Amino acid sequence: MTVHQPTIASEPFSSLALSALPSPCYVIDEAKIEANLKILEQVQQASGAKILLALKAFSMFSIAPLVMKYLQGVAASGLNEATLGKEEFKGEVHTYVAAIRPHEFNALLNVSDHLIFNSVNQWHNYRDRALAYQNTSNTKIQFGVRINPEHSESDTPLYDPCAPCSRMGIRLEDFQQLNINGISGLHFHTLCEQEFAPLARTLDAVEKNFGETLHKLEWVNFGGGHHITREGYDLQGLIERITAFQQKYTVQVYLEPGEAIALDAGVLVTEVLDTLHNTMDLAIVDVSATCHMPDVLEMPYRPRLTGSGAPNEKPHTYRLGGPSCLAGDIIGDYSFDSPLQVGQRLMFEDMAIYTMVKNSTFNGINLPAIVLWNSQSQAMKIIKEFGYQDFKQRLS
Ligand SMILES: Cc1ncc(COP(=O)(O)O)c(C=O)c1O
Repeated sequence: MTVHQPTIASEPFSSLALSALPSPCYVIDEAKIEANLKILEQVQQASGAKILLALKAFSMFSIAPLVMKYLQGVAASGLNEATLGKEEFKGEVHTYVAAIRPHEFNALLNVSDHLIFNSVNQWHNYRDRALAYQNTSNTKIQFGVRINPEHSESDTPLYDPCAPCSRMGIRLEDFQQLNINGISGLHFHTLCEQEFAPLARTLDAVEKNFGETLHKLEWVNFGGGHHITREGYDLQGLIERITAFQQKYTVQVYLEPGEAIALDAGVLVTEVLDTLHNTMDLAIVDVSATCHMPDVLEMPYRPRLTGSGAPNEKPHTYRLGGPSCLAGDIIGDYSFDSPLQVGQRLMFEDMAIYTMVKNSTFNGINLPAIVLWNSQSQAMKIIKEFGYQDFKQRLS
């Protein structure tokens, strides 16, 4: 979900010894991650908000101890991420699921501290079981619902949960049907890579429409999409608004950014495999947009490449494409000071977020099982089913 496209190189990576690395590879700078975490810690301390890492953006659990030095826990999109959060991060686990798979409900209760329901139906279907579990278990699990503030701030419909016909969250008109008994918090998520002002406008909409309910709650989760660690973010504005919000409604505010934790903290190293010419100069590299950075095609956007310029800005312009058979596996057009050489290493920037997670299983959503069936005999064999271990083993 990387929208911003400044062409300057990520400074710390300029000293990276590219030739010593396997190619392709993601390289994550733990010093940059820690610098980001320290900014988030300042926000927590000054505002009283609790900040969680949204695993959907960055779920590198090998650095969980570093993350948990500063943050309170994780935001999970389903059972696999919640289990990973519980097992590896060991802090609070806040799970929001767009639609619960019935056979996973008990397990979700076991691993979550907050479980957030997406619709009136979902809450009403599971409410009795949820409250029975809350009364009998030793956990302090709390339940919430996601609201749709019907206030759009994103220019990209793909990333706008408040777009018309959105399936994300409960709109005010449906909220009236909700049995609020047993609900201790509200969650909303409306932003994508945004500054404080869009959050402030979203909060105005939330307060206007749900203000009465807010007074009855214990917590409000402002979701993700806050680019808090980006240079120039209005930290003071954020801190003041959270402080005022918490005082006005006597609630605990949570933020669950993903990108902000690993912003500009990773690169994707690639090698030139071949150069060729068809109307223009082309190069095939050993990373693939479709396999390794699908947002390039989904968004679409052109990732920053260290040392390169816009097309024709420098003397040698190439179209970089991946090694896959997909004709459209094209990363973008870039210009260079000298012709590209086979074996040369290149470095795509800001690649820690929404990359590794998208080429494992995004949101922790299991891959479909694979079944062999014979249409004549009706014989059927389940060849393979995927679960938590498959998800976890593709991460690090
Ligand atoms: C519910 C929810 N929370 C948190 C996030 C994390 O957002 P970001 O990584 O943009 O901060 C997302 C992203 O899509 C989300 O859908």
